[in-house]
Amino acid sequence: MDLDLSHPTLPDLRARARRRIPHFAWEYLDSGTGEDSAIRRSREALDNVVLAPAVLKGRTEPDLTTTLLGRTYDRPWGVSPVGMTGLFWPGAEVTLAQHCVSQNLPFGLSTVAAASVEDLAPHIGEQGWFQLYPPRDMDHCKDLLARAKAAGFHTLVLTVDVPGPSRRERQRRGGLTTPPAITPRLFMQSVLRPHWSLAVARAGVPSVRGLAKYTSPHTPARHVGLAPHAAPDPELFKVLRDLWEGPIVAKGVLVPEEAVMLRDLGFDAIWVSNHGGRQFDGAPGSADALPRVRKALGPDFPVIFDGAVTSGLDMLRAIALGADFIMLGRPWLWGVASFGAKGAAHVSHILTEDMTSGLIQMGITTPPEVRSRLWPTSSSG
Ligand SMILES: Cc1cc2nc3c(=O)[nH]c(=O)nc-3n(C[C@H](O)[C@H](O)[C@H](O)COP(=O)(O)O)c2cc1C
Repeated sequence: MDLDLSHPTLPDLRARARRRIPHFAWEYLDSGTGEDSAIRRSREALDNVVLAPAVLKGRTEPDLTTTLLGRTYDRPWGVSPVGMTGLFWPGAEVTLAQHCVSQNLPFGLSTVAAASVEDLAPHIGEQGWFQLYPPRDMDHCKDLLARAKAAGFHTLVLTVDVPGPSRRERQRRGGLTTPPAITPRLFMQSVLRPHWSLAVARAGVPSVRGLAKYTSPHTPARHVGLAPHAAPDPELFKVLRDLWEGPIVAKGVLVPEEAVMLRDLGFDAIWVSNHGGRQFDGAPGSADALPRVRKALGPDFPVIFDGAVTSGLDMLRAIALGADFIMLGRPWLWGVASFGAKGAAHVSHILTEDMTSGLIQMGITTPPEVRSRLWPTSSSG
């Protein structure tokens, strides 16, 4: 199958993934919280960004290499941390880490991924960012950080937008319980997805392997998307700052004043995100918040962005609004669930081709130059 013809966009991969993943797991991947309004706002905010094409510039030779936090990546994008990644396709963490190594992109491993830092160690190379939900027990927290470091992860991502659980109504209706239990309903849904079921039968039922060491019948990792953890506060951050040698990123920031506070506390980068719309349905779209956060932080402080990005053009839109680097969550799983490692490669291929084409249409060479092509609209200020 020529994927360029059959699946030329990320939404094409999404449609295929939906047909291959059981309903309960699909609902876990695809949903936000509440009415999914925050997801919609993220999407609309990107759609509303207009960029100016250029004429008589000749054909440019785009260069997508981007330096962030002292490292140069081949493209300005990477993999956002996604909990229980292996639920969507067994082995997805390793598949994506290997893709990131082959393409020199950063790979974010969630604290509550199915694979542990040790599972990733042989595959992660120099590409590892470790996303932390801090365990409540400080000894466990220290141990987890030491394990991540020993496994080769160099950048710590502290998710700051989960002070408590959200309701995730679609996920509940989908039938996924906490802890996950194979009910007759889930079993029937799985039977309808034989490729997935076979893959799971080979790999084993996914669990949060990275936290297994700290859990017991009395303290299970209760929520598939939210293991027991302390909500980060400035005091906890200071402790983590001392514990972690290397860059620390604050993930899940939307409010400009909070971005400034986090920068002043010592974070090395701010990650603008509404957590894929999964935490607070009243939140602005990520791209609504982005220009305000950029303005508050000034032009030079590193800003990472995610939220509803489904094309190279979307990434250029986000960069035009002030992002330095773009991460994607769900689209990588669409690729892997659709076509395994080939699907991950196809995601990067689509993004590369689309971003390159966009740069050529605007007569520019590097992604940051897109800031000069922002077409003024009511939503771009
Ligand atoms: C199924 C799922 C699980 C997620 N788990 C985590 C997580 O464990 N830690 C975290 O910081 N963010 C998590 N996120 C949020 C992503 O890192 C990212 O912010 C979001 O997916 C970006 O939006 P996109 O999926 O539209 O690209 C999760 C998102 C999804 C869809």
